[in-house]
Amino acid sequence: MLRVENIDLSYGESICLRGVSLEADPGSITCVLGRNGVGKSSLMRSIVGLERIRGGKIVWEGKDVSAMAASERARAGIGYVPQGREIFPFLTVQENLETALAAAPRGSKVPDEIFELFPILKQFLGRRGGDLSGGQQQQLAIGRALTARPRLLILDEPTEGIQPNIIKDIARVIRLLAKERGMAVVLVEQYFEFARELADRIAVMVRGEVALGGPVDSLDNEAVRKLLTV
Ligand SMILES: Nc1ncnc2c1ncn2[C@@H]1O[C@H](COP(=O)(O)OP(=O)(O)OP(=O)(O)O)[C@@H](O)[C@H]1O
Ligand SMILES: [Mg+2]
Repeated sequence: MLRVENIDLSYGESICLRGVSLEADPGSITCVLGRNGVGKSSLMRSIVGLERIRGGKIVWEGKDVSAMAASERARAGIGYVPQGREIFPFLTVQENLETALAAAPRGSKVPDEIFELFPILKQFLGRRGGDLSGGQQQQLAIGRALTARPRLLILDEPTEGIQPNIIKDIARVIRLLAKERGMAVVLVEQYFEFARELADRIAVMVRGEVALGGPVDSLDNEAVRKLLTV
């Protein structure tokens, strides 16, 4: 299980996260919502080790990982699909997937299951990442994260700028990873409707803080919507 406990993050003088707490259990989906610039990505980057927090701690599978390097956290089972996908445009699909093997158990190869989840990746193995559509790149980014065989998967706005039919595919895969593979999933989303369909728990952020959170059924939908509208 993941426990983010009361973390603070600053960029120089500017405070970005203030006393943020979040939980994610194996087999469940935690969705982080919030308007632009409230700190969602910064929170994800803190969890995966790309930002150094100032206070609080991040506990994964009972161990405080707050001081661990990102590469170590990846080897400890924390997988990450960044906002904007960040695939390598000049590497092939195969090579993009293989970049994640460094974080996988020694001697692993790209798991066949990735091609069952995303058949398009098998078909385009030799194609360059930059030549894929946005939706295909998103599938590649998720496939790359899964190559390291994570037990926690962090996805930062995986549906941003993607056509509805691929969004459906991605939602189906996220649900399967949590419900059938028992992964803990943390998902950042802009759209409450999408989040509500997938999430077990929701946290709504406002200006660097979690303003509202809890099991999805316990939340007042109108109160959530209010925090999300400009
Ligand atoms: N590397 C950085 N250096 C300085 N400020 C930053 C940095 N990264 C983010 N910020 C600032 O921190 C705040 C939170 O940014 P963050 O990207 O975490 O928000 P977000 O909720 O993910 O936004 P979006 O919905 O647009 O993706 C913003 O004011 C942003 O300008
Ligand atoms: Mg963001």
